[in-house]
Amino acid sequence: MKILDIGSATGYPFIDYLYDKKIDIYGIDVSEKLINECRKKYPNSNLSVSSAENLSFESNFFDMIYCFHTTWHFEDFFKSIKEMFRAIKDDGKIIIDVMNADNEEMKKVFFIKCIKDIIKKIIYYPFSFFKYGRLKNPVIHYEKPVSVAKFNRFLYDRKIIFKMFVFNEDNLKEINTNEKINNHSRLIYIIQKENILSQEVIN
Ligand SMILES: C[S@@+](CC[C@H](N)C(=O)[O-])C[C@H]1O[C@@H](n2cnc3c(N)ncnc32)[C@H](O)[C@@H]1O
Repeated sequence: MKILDIGSATGYPFIDYLYDKKIDIYGIDVSEKLINECRKKYPNSNLSVSSAENLSFESNFFDMIYCFHTTWHFEDFFKSIKEMFRAIKDDGKIIIDVMNADNEEMKKVFFIKCIKDIIKKIIYYPFSFFKYGRLKNPVIHYEKPVSVAKFNRFLYDRKIIFKMFVFNEDNLKEINTNEKINNHSRLIYIIQKENILSQEVIN
Protein backbone atom coordinates (compact mmCIF):
# COMPACT_ATOMS: atom_id res chain seq x y z
CA MET A 1 0.00 0.00 0.00
CA LYS A 2 1.37 3.41 -0.98
CA ILE A 3 0.43 6.47 1.06
CA LEU A 4 1.43 10.07 0.42
CA ASP A 5 1.52 12.70 3.16
CA ILE A 6 1.45 16.20 1.65
CA GLY A 7 2.98 18.83 3.96
CA SER A 8 4.67 16.07 5.95
CA ALA A 9 7.02 18.51 7.76
CA THR A 10 9.13 16.53 10.30
CA GLY A 11 6.88 13.48 10.10
CA TYR A 12 4.28 14.25 12.76
CA PRO A 13 1.77 12.64 12.88
CA PHE A 14 1.47 10.32 9.85
CA ILE A 15 5.04 9.27 9.10
CA ASP A 16 5.76 8.91 12.84
CA TYR A 17 2.77 6.59 13.10
CA LEU A 18 3.04 4.66 9.84
CA TYR A 19 6.81 4.32 9.38
CA ASP A 20 7.20 0.80 10.79
CA LYS A 21 3.79 -0.47 9.69
CA LYS A 22 4.91 -2.17 6.45
CA ILE A 23 3.35 0.62 4.41
CA ASP A 24 5.15 2.47 1.65
CA ILE A 25 4.89 5.94 3.11
CA TYR A 26 5.90 8.95 1.03
CA GLY A 27 6.19 12.51 2.27
CA ILE A 28 6.57 15.82 0.50
CA ASP A 29 7.02 19.32 1.83
CA VAL A 30 8.15 22.64 0.39
CA SER A 31 10.48 23.13 3.34
CA GLU A 32 13.92 21.60 2.74
CA LYS A 33 14.79 22.16 6.39
CA LEU A 34 11.81 20.12 7.65
CA ILE A 35 12.36 17.34 5.09
CA ASN A 36 16.00 17.08 6.19
CA GLU A 37 14.94 16.82 9.83
CA CYS A 38 12.47 14.08 8.91
CA ARG A 39 15.18 12.23 6.92
CA LYS A 40 17.36 12.17 10.03
CA LYS A 41 14.55 10.38 11.91
CA TYR A 42 13.65 8.06 9.02
CA PRO A 43 16.71 7.55 6.78
CA ASN A 44 14.96 4.95 4.59
CA SER A 45 11.81 6.91 3.93
CA ASN A 46 10.59 8.31 0.59
CA LEU A 47 10.82 12.02 1.26
CA SER A 48 11.16 14.85 -1.19
CA VAL A 49 11.12 18.61 -1.31
CA SER A 50 8.30 19.51 -3.63
CA SER A 51 5.01 21.30 -3.71
CA ALA A 52 1.44 20.01 -3.80
CA GLU A 53 0.85 22.05 -6.95
CA ASN A 54 3.38 19.95 -8.92
CA LEU A 55 3.58 16.41 -7.56
CA SER A 56 6.60 14.55 -8.89
CA PHE A 57 4.86 11.16 -9.00
CA GLU A 58 3.40 9.23 -11.89
CA SER A 59 -0.39 9.08 -12.31
CA ASN A 60 -2.48 6.48 -10.43
CA PHE A 61 0.35 5.80 -7.99
CA PHE A 62 -1.05 6.12 -4.45
CA ASP A 63 -3.72 4.19 -2.56
CA MET A 64 -4.25 7.05 -0.17
CA ILE A 65 -3.27 10.71 0.08
CA TYR A 66 -3.38 12.60 3.35
CA CYS A 67 -2.99 16.31 3.70
CA PHE A 68 -3.57 17.83 7.12
CA HIS A 69 -3.11 21.37 8.41
CA THR A 70 -1.64 22.29 5.06
CA THR A 71 -4.26 23.11 2.37
CA TRP A 72 -4.56 26.74 3.53
CA HIS A 73 -0.85 27.18 2.81
CA PHE A 74 -1.27 26.15 -0.83
CA GLU A 75 -0.59 28.85 -3.33
CA ASP A 76 -3.14 27.26 -5.66
CA PHE A 77 -5.69 25.08 -3.83
CA PHE A 78 -7.55 23.77 -6.90
CA LYS A 79 -4.38 22.98 -8.85
CA SER A 80 -3.17 20.96 -5.85
CA ILE A 81 -6.47 19.07 -5.64
CA LYS A 82 -6.25 18.22 -9.35
CA GLU A 83 -2.71 16.95 -8.79
CA MET A 84 -3.96 14.72 -5.97
CA PHE A 85 -6.61 13.27 -8.30
CA ARG A 86 -3.95 12.59 -10.89
CA ALA A 87 -1.62 10.82 -8.46
CA ILE A 88 -4.26 8.72 -6.66
CA LYS A 89 -5.33 5.29 -7.93
CA ASP A 90 -8.88 4.85 -9.22
CA ASP A 91 -10.00 3.13 -6.02
CA GLY A 92 -7.92 5.40 -3.79
CA LYS A 93 -9.02 7.90 -1.16
CA ILE A 94 -7.96 11.46 -0.47
CA ILE A 95 -8.25 12.72 3.10
CA ILE A 96 -7.75 16.43 3.66
CA ASP A 97 -8.82 19.23 5.96
CA VAL A 98 -9.75 22.72 4.82
CA MET A 99 -10.35 26.07 6.46
CA ASN A 100 -13.71 27.46 5.44
CA ALA A 101 -13.41 30.96 3.96
CA ASP A 102 -17.20 31.44 4.23
CA ASN A 103 -17.27 30.95 7.99
CA GLU A 104 -17.76 34.27 9.85
CA GLU A 105 -15.08 33.48 12.46
CA MET A 106 -12.58 32.56 9.72
CA LYS A 107 -13.33 35.79 7.87
CA LYS A 108 -12.36 37.79 10.98
CA VAL A 109 -9.24 35.69 11.70
CA PHE A 110 -7.98 35.93 8.12
CA PHE A 111 -8.77 39.62 7.84
CA ILE A 112 -6.46 40.24 10.82
CA LYS A 113 -3.82 37.90 9.30
CA CYS A 114 -4.09 39.78 6.03
CA ILE A 115 -3.44 43.11 7.76
CA LYS A 116 -0.46 41.57 9.60
CA ASP A 117 0.90 40.23 6.29
CA ILE A 118 0.69 43.67 4.69
CA ILE A 119 2.53 45.20 7.67
CA LYS A 120 5.18 42.45 7.42
CA LYS A 121 5.65 43.09 3.71
CA ILE A 122 6.00 46.84 4.20
CA ILE A 123 8.08 46.91 7.39
CA TYR A 124 9.53 43.54 8.45
CA TYR A 125 10.73 42.07 5.11
CA PRO A 126 12.60 45.17 3.88
CA PHE A 127 14.17 45.50 7.35
CA SER A 128 15.24 41.80 7.47
CA PHE A 129 16.55 41.97 3.88
CA PHE A 130 18.63 45.01 4.85
CA LYS A 131 19.94 43.20 7.96
CA TYR A 132 20.38 39.57 6.72
CA GLY A 133 20.25 39.80 2.92
CA ARG A 134 18.19 37.34 0.88
CA LEU A 135 17.33 34.26 2.97
CA LYS A 136 18.45 30.95 1.42
CA ASN A 137 15.42 28.98 2.58
CA PRO A 138 12.71 31.54 3.17
CA VAL A 139 9.87 30.28 5.33
CA ILE A 140 6.71 30.38 3.30
CA HIS A 141 3.88 31.96 5.22
CA TYR A 142 0.95 31.85 2.91
CA GLU A 143 -2.43 31.34 4.49
CA LYS A 144 -5.63 31.38 2.54
CA PRO A 145 -8.82 29.49 3.44
CA VAL A 146 -11.02 28.11 0.67
CA SER A 147 -14.73 28.63 0.12
CA VAL A 148 -16.26 25.27 1.05
CA ALA A 149 -19.28 26.05 -1.15
CA LYS A 150 -16.93 26.56 -4.11
CA PHE A 151 -14.97 23.40 -3.31
CA ASN A 152 -18.17 21.34 -3.00
CA ARG A 153 -19.35 22.74 -6.35
CA PHE A 154 -15.99 21.70 -7.88
CA LEU A 155 -16.55 18.15 -6.57
CA TYR A 156 -20.25 17.95 -7.57
CA ASP A 157 -19.49 19.21 -11.08
CA ARG A 158 -17.06 16.34 -11.50
CA LYS A 159 -19.48 13.81 -10.00
CA ILE A 160 -17.04 13.01 -7.24
CA ILE A 161 -18.42 11.39 -4.10
CA PHE A 162 -17.21 12.83 -0.82
CA LYS A 163 -18.02 12.93 2.87
CA MET A 164 -17.52 15.88 5.20
CA PHE A 165 -16.72 15.69 8.90
CA VAL A 166 -16.16 18.13 11.73
CA PHE A 167 -14.48 17.65 15.09
CA ASN A 168 -17.00 17.25 17.85
CA GLU A 169 -15.37 16.92 21.27
CA ASP A 170 -12.39 14.98 19.90
CA ASN A 171 -14.58 12.73 17.73
CA LEU A 172 -15.31 13.07 14.06
CA LYS A 173 -18.94 13.81 13.28
CA GLU A 174 -20.20 13.46 9.73
CA ILE A 175 -22.18 16.41 8.44
CA ASN A 176 -24.40 16.35 5.42
CA THR A 177 -24.54 18.93 2.70
CA ASN A 178 -28.01 20.16 3.74
CA GLU A 179 -26.60 21.37 7.03
CA LYS A 180 -25.35 24.93 7.37
CA ILE A 181 -21.76 24.14 6.47
CA ASN A 182 -20.69 27.73 6.97
CA ASN A 183 -21.21 27.31 10.73
CA HIS A 184 -18.03 25.23 10.61
CA SER A 185 -14.60 26.81 10.36
CA ARG A 186 -12.67 23.63 9.59
CA LEU A 187 -13.89 20.57 7.70
CA ILE A 188 -12.36 17.19 7.05
CA TYR A 189 -13.06 15.58 3.66
CA ILE A 190 -12.86 11.97 2.61
CA ILE A 191 -12.96 11.92 -1.16
CA GLN A 192 -13.22 8.85 -3.38
CA LYS A 193 -11.75 8.88 -6.82
CA GLU A 194 -13.63 5.81 -8.06
CA ASN A 195 -16.77 7.83 -8.80
CA ILE A 196 -15.07 10.00 -11.34
CA LEU A 197 -16.46 9.22 -14.77
CA SER A 198 -13.34 9.92 -16.76
CA GLN A 199 -9.98 11.57 -16.39
CA GLU A 200 -11.15 14.49 -18.56
CA VAL A 201 -13.60 15.78 -15.96
CA ILE A 202 -10.72 16.48 -13.60
CA ASN A 203 -9.46 19.23 -15.86
C1 LIG B 1 1.26 23.30 9.69
S1 LIG B 1 2.38 22.25 8.89
C2 LIG B 1 1.50 20.71 8.97
C3 LIG B 1 2.38 19.56 9.33
C4 LIG B 1 1.67 18.20 9.50
N1 LIG B 1 1.04 17.77 8.26
C5 LIG B 1 0.66 18.22 10.62
O1 LIG B 1 -0.49 17.80 10.42
O2 LIG B 1 1.01 18.62 11.73
C6 LIG B 1 2.18 22.71 7.19
C7 LIG B 1 3.28 22.16 6.31
O3 LIG B 1 2.91 22.31 4.94
C8 LIG B 1 4.06 22.66 4.20
N2 LIG B 1 3.59 23.30 2.96
C9 LIG B 1 3.12 24.56 2.76
N3 LIG B 1 2.76 24.76 1.49
C10 LIG B 1 2.98 23.59 0.85
C11 LIG B 1 2.80 23.16 -0.51
N4 LIG B 1 2.31 23.97 -1.45
N5 LIG B 1 3.16 21.88 -0.83
C12 LIG B 1 3.67 21.04 0.11
N6 LIG B 1 3.86 21.40 1.41
C13 LIG B 1 3.51 22.65 1.77
C14 LIG B 1 4.83 23.59 5.15
O4 LIG B 1 6.19 23.68 4.82
C15 LIG B 1 4.59 22.90 6.50
O5 LIG B 1 5.60 21.97 6.81
